[in-house]
Amino acid sequence: MRLLLTTSQGIEDLAGAEVRSLLDRIGVPFRVEEKPLGVEGRVSAEIGEAFYTDEKGRRRRMSIPTYLNERSRLLHRVIVEIASERFEGIGNEEPEVALRRIEDFVASLPVERFIKVSESFAVRSFRKGEHRITSVDVAKTVGKAIFERMERFGKPRVNLDHPAVIFRAELINEVFFIGIDTTGDSSLHKRPWRVYDHPAHLKASIANALIELAEPDGGSFTDPFCGSGTIPIELALRGYPGRVICLEKYRKHLRGAEMNAFAAGVHEGIEFILGDATRLSEYVDRVDFAVSNLPYGLKIGRKRAIPKLYMDFFGELAKVLEKRGVFITTEKREIERAITENGFKIKHHRLIGHGGLMVHTYVIG
Ligand SMILES: C[S@@+](CC[C@H](N)C(=O)[O-])C[C@H]1O[C@@H](n2cnc3c(N)ncnc32)[C@H](O)[C@@H]1O
Repeated sequence: MRLLLTTSQGIEDLAGAEVRSLLDRIGVPFRVEEKPLGVEGRVSAEIGEAFYTDEKGRRRRMSIPTYLNERSRLLHRVIVEIASERFEGIGNEEPEVALRRIEDFVASLPVERFIKVSESFAVRSFRKGEHRITSVDVAKTVGKAIFERMERFGKPRVNLDHPAVIFRAELINEVFFIGIDTTGDSSLHKRPWRVYDHPAHLKASIANALIELAEPDGGSFTDPFCGSGTIPIELALRGYPGRVICLEKYRKHLRGAEMNAFAAGVHEGIEFILGDATRLSEYVDRVDFAVSNLPYGLKIGRKRAIPKLYMDFFGELAKVLEKRGVFITTEKREIERAITENGFKIKHHRLIGHGGLMVHTYVIG
């Protein structure tokens, strides 16, 4: 079986490492490739069969997509790949020509191996890059090709609202993927514990990527701009044995973080502090790890406050941080100045796709 796994751009290596470690645990043969066909935000996995013994001692085939949907912290979707293809030049083609190519390709695929004719289906699509066709065009064209092929086997049923089977068609630049989306309509990064929706919350998958980059070893850990608590909650959900501190300046968000932590069942494992990160040393004498997505200057008024906020915060962090910090922001110049002028070294930098932007991520020590 070949899986197409989706995640955020810039964390494919971390998602790939997670998938390898999950597959290692169940002793199944596999080959994982990051950015298949050069596509960012995608990981593919060629996986052999895995079995388990049920309570009656019977040998049963294990569903790897179910296993990954349940266990992964960094993936967004688990798609059973039917096919992938590079359509050279599709970006410049007339809409009818581009759609005809997609339709002919899908019509040639044995989709009947992945769905029973009695099962209802829908096609969801995703498109990224320069094209003269829309994602709606792609969904309609792929849906038509599947419907016509399935008519050979009976009377196909389309149900756009509650389909039994979801086909996912992706056109990313020149690469086309099609498969069965086993995750469903809600991406895995939308965690069920999020009962309080912070306006600038971090995707849980990226929170986990930042945690991986920090490599916390059980020592004390803080997110000093914790907002709705995404990073501390995701860390606590891993069963983190150390002290976890969620610091936030605004009561409304801190209450939201507590509500989220209750919903996640990890409220007991996190200390919630209402406070100002630019006075961090008033709340903690020392901390081993600090991981945060910093306030960005997206609003004009806030933008002016950013250089001083960052300078004051990293000045405080220098007083208490023992091991490593990981920070994510759009404000490259301001954070780099604040990091270096406060005596920290940038150990690693990468760009991560978040909310339509590529945001700068730093590991410092
Ligand atoms: C980008 S948001 C963090 C979102 C969080 N990671 C989440 O997933 O919900 C930045 C947060 O920093 C808070 N903040 C701004 N200035 C602060 C300060 N001086 N001290 C502590 N928190 C502050 C904001 O209220 C906001 O909740």
